[in-house]
Amino acid sequence: MSDLIVAIDGPGGTGKSSVSRELARRAGLPHLDTGAFYRAATLAALEAGVDLDDGDAVTTVVEGSDFSQEEGRMYLDGRDVSDPIREDEITKGVSAVSAHPAVRAHLVELQRSWLRSHEGRGVVEGRDIGSVVFPDATVKVYLDASPEVRARRRAEQSGEDIAEVLEDLNRRDHLDSTRVASPMTVPRGAIVVDTSELDFEAVVEQLIGLLPSES
Ligand code: C5P
Repeated sequence: MSDLIVAIDGPGGTGKSSVSRELARRAGLPHLDTGAFYRAATLAALEAGVDLDDGDAVTTVVEGSDFSQEEGRMYLDGRDVSDPIREDEITKGVSAVSAHPAVRAHLVELQRSWLRSHEGRGVVEGRDIGSVVFPDATVKVYLDASPEVRARRRAEQSGEDIAEVLEDLNRRDHLDSTRVASPMTVPRGAIVVDTSELDFEAVVEQLIGLLPSES
């Protein structure tokens, strides 16, 4: 079997996670959610009681922790943290943690080694996959949607107030796309899919159509 990497980047609220999972399932490929690594790193730093803006302290915690992901579950030092990493406190702190270059370098290596241990095949979603983690990915997709649509989708999922969600999305977009280390960007060679007017099935179908026929 040859290598097959599908890189899916884009901001939150575009349906990136559910679309990536479904695409992986239909294509028979393993799936990696890289955002979960940054979330687990944030949890580790909070539990260690370090200041999230202190790059050296956060890096020491991250380098001393064990991160892994299998079958859609995220593990920190062998503990399943899939649920706690979705808490508000983590979502609020994660952009600070993910801005530290040494944290990124460490987690990117783990993401690359995950792919090697899955025979070089997988659907990998995040914010720097096609640009930094796997610049030679077989297929690169950048999912986008208008801020209002993204906020509405998030609010429908979580039951939160739409204006609050919009504010949080805008704040994280700004931090993620203006940071010095690997800012979120449309990777070179990526196909941009605007999901604002598309339903879930239409997006999945469009992405399936981009896969090479052997898969
Ligand atoms: O995708 P998710 O919302 O779980 O990502 C959480 C955060 O992790 C993002 O806001 C971003 O700060 C960071 N992230 C990143 N690079 C990735 C994936 C996520 O910096 N590849």
